[in-house]
Amino acid sequence: MTMTENSRITTPFTATSTAAEVVDGIDLTGRRVVVTGGASGIGIETARALAGAGAEVTLAVRDLDAGERTANDIVATTGNKQILVAPLDLANQASVAAFTSAWDGPLHVLVNNAGVMASPEAHTPEGWELQFATNHLGHFALATGLHRALAAAGGARVVSVSSSAHLRSPIVFEDIHFRERAYEPWSAYGQSKTANVLFAVEATKRWESDGITVNALMPGGIRTNLQRHVSQEDLDRAVAAAGGASGITWKTPEQGAATSVLVATSPLLEGVGGRYFEDCEEAGPNRPGSRNGVAAYALDPEAAARLWQVSVETLTR
Ligand SMILES: NC(=O)c1ccc[n+]([C@@H]2O[C@H](COP(=O)([O-])OP(=O)(O)OC[C@H]3O[C@@H](n4cnc5c(N)ncnc54)[C@H](OP(=O)(O)O)[C@@H]3O)[C@@H](O)[C@H]2O)c1
Repeated sequence: MTMTENSRITTPFTATSTAAEVVDGIDLTGRRVVVTGGASGIGIETARALAGAGAEVTLAVRDLDAGERTANDIVATTGNKQILVAPLDLANQASVAAFTSAWDGPLHVLVNNAGVMASPEAHTPEGWELQFATNHLGHFALATGLHRALAAAGGARVVSVSSSAHLRSPIVFEDIHFRERAYEPWSAYGQSKTANVLFAVEATKRWESDGITVNALMPGGIRTNLQRHVSQEDLDRAVAAAGGASGITWKTPEQGAATSVLVATSPLLEGVGGRYFEDCEEAGPNRPGSRNGVAAYALDPEAAARLWQVSVETLTR
């Protein structure tokens, strides 16, 4: 299903709804979930809400101590003992391959949540720009590596956590890894977050017949470790650009996790894929000058198919 064929999806939830409210009344007993970056920020609250609904949740993390602390906390707060921790470094393809080959049995929900934002210029040993490598290529390899497990679940969902920052850049296919152009941390972040949306478009097209749907989302603005590379000056500038202190409303991590959990579980999204959500409903098209909505280039099926091809070639080179 595409946005043009169907009306925009609305729900009873809003920007201030919490993850727990969104999943209230939904029983995930017997469902298996993976949350990448599940030991920090909105990943913790995404995992907690899904665990609270009865799912087995694997926190896929690169900091195993933080993972264990989070797992213990989720067990204590939900009473659900099926919280697992597994190592995953998305910027390291050997680590992604180890995760996917160790996975056994069906996977009902994959939440591609981990991310790095506006980091200083860095490249992986393969020469891939770090934000694209982590936010897109790592998750691309993870999801494709888990494809069989997702297909085996029957009706699996993949949640691709993007950002309104996708409005900052389309995919610059001519120079994805900033080899020719000067590095700009926000363009690199924006490009990687556009990739997260395009992945939802093409993966749904390819995998719908396996019962797998993929949607992307903007969680909102939440103060987390994500801002570690952003100076106070840059944050102030972003707030000013949004219309001053009154123009930006920070969400709590519980509110920030709500749209991920909605996309992962809501019956209103049954069979729906390739779309972009924010504030617990499907976003409309971005209007110039606005920081909401989705860019046309992020839903472009041709760009989505091209990115898929480029990603496969990059990973198999
Ligand atoms: N917070 C916001 O305002 C906001 C707005 C729009 C979109 N988002 C998106 O929401 C998602 C979650 O962000 P957050 O705010 O919760 O940030 P966060 O607290 O920094 O969490 C991000 C997680 O990603 C993990 N991560 C980073 N690089 C990784 C790698 N190479 N391999 C595995 N894990 C890695 C981090 O692990 P470590 O702890 O080990 O570094 C951390 O657990 C991100 O995709 C972000 O782009 C957030």
